[in-house]
Amino acid sequence: MGKHEFIEQALQNLHEQGLYNTIRTIESSVGAWVVVEGKRVLNMCSNNYLGFANDERLCTAAKKAIDDYGVGPGAVRSIAGTMSLHIELEEKLAEFKGTESALSVQSGLNTNLATIPLLMGKEDVIFTDELNHASIIDGCRLTKAKRVIFPHRDVETLRRLLEENKEIEKKLIITDGVFSMDGDLAPLPGIVDVAEEYGAMVMVDDAHGEGVLGSHGRGIVDHFGLHGRVDIEAGTMSKAFGVMGGYVAGSADIVEYLRQRARPFLFSSAATPPDVAACIAAIDILQQTDEPVKKLWENARYFKENMVALGFDTGASETPITPVMLGEAKTAWDFSKRLFSEGVFGTAIAFPTVPRGKARIRVMLSAAHSKDDLDFALEKFEKAGKELRVIS
Ligand SMILES: Cc1ncc(COP(=O)(O)O)c(C=O)c1O
Repeated sequence: MGKHEFIEQALQNLHEQGLYNTIRTIESSVGAWVVVEGKRVLNMCSNNYLGFANDERLCTAAKKAIDDYGVGPGAVRSIAGTMSLHIELEEKLAEFKGTESALSVQSGLNTNLATIPLLMGKEDVIFTDELNHASIIDGCRLTKAKRVIFPHRDVETLRRLLEENKEIEKKLIITDGVFSMDGDLAPLPGIVDVAEEYGAMVMVDDAHGEGVLGSHGRGIVDHFGLHGRVDIEAGTMSKAFGVMGGYVAGSADIVEYLRQRARPFLFSSAATPPDVAACIAAIDILQQTDEPVKKLWENARYFKENMVALGFDTGASETPITPVMLGEAKTAWDFSKRLFSEGVFGTAIAFPTVPRGKARIRVMLSAAHSKDDLDFALEKFEKAGKELRVIS
């Protein structure tokens, strides 16, 4: 047997199970419409909630940063990679989130890898929602802490599990703010209440909340009015902010501890000047206006209401994330291909990103969509849905 035979076998299995992911290539900037493999299609699957990914103001800021600072930091933050742009971004993030301090890292994934292992050791216990994002799961796996997985959004069971583990001194509850595949919200007020009862820290991953929830898109903590009661807000600038980069917002001492010891901060180079400058521009826009956030919600409401009227199952979403539930992976892939042939880009999402049998097209609404765009999408979803007998 060749030493790579197991890989060939694994790929073969993916094909046989309908789980092989055909990754399409985008040949334009990311807006409401994109060019994919030579074809102009309506983009219904980017996390570009506010249309910032190709916003002129962000592009101009990025170009200016290249002129002023070049393209790369040349080092990790703690050695020689911290530029005045990074500090400006962190100050603006803290102000935007309403926290004492903030630290920027390279990505949302790195945020979780930076924070969780630093805070939690082998004597400690982490309570984590069963549907938390993979980067939270990986962050937990990098610790030797005891892991307690609580049923999705179930505060009563979480309370029981806290009670069972109350002898363990250091406790951390972690949850996604908005669950990325279903669009439902963490019951954060209830989580914070039980955390306070049992002296546990709370960390929320606000990747899909910032730019979407709360005043001017400040995120889930603002949405629920929980400022000062959540220990750590982790997030990313790769979604609503339209760029790239992760951050942790919280108390000055947590942020300082991360700055001293978090491994992705110490051992992976700093984010680049154009990325950081574009992120700063995104925050500046949101501080000034909430128009893009309002437009996003208007679009989300319109699209969802019409999809439900057509007979689609859009799950339990409370946000602009709109899962169109299709069941088997093969159905989702067929649906995605039909949509593409009709000029709509909507990627199928299947196991392992979502549980088996719960494959879907996850539609992501954006402030960049016009009403005509949404009507076009609805018409194509209806056509594909009828052809594949998902709706009648
Ligand atoms: C909840 C959540 N956390 C973290 C991430 C990772 O963010 P990034 O793409 O910036 O690494 C994502 C998205 O990919 C996410 O949905």
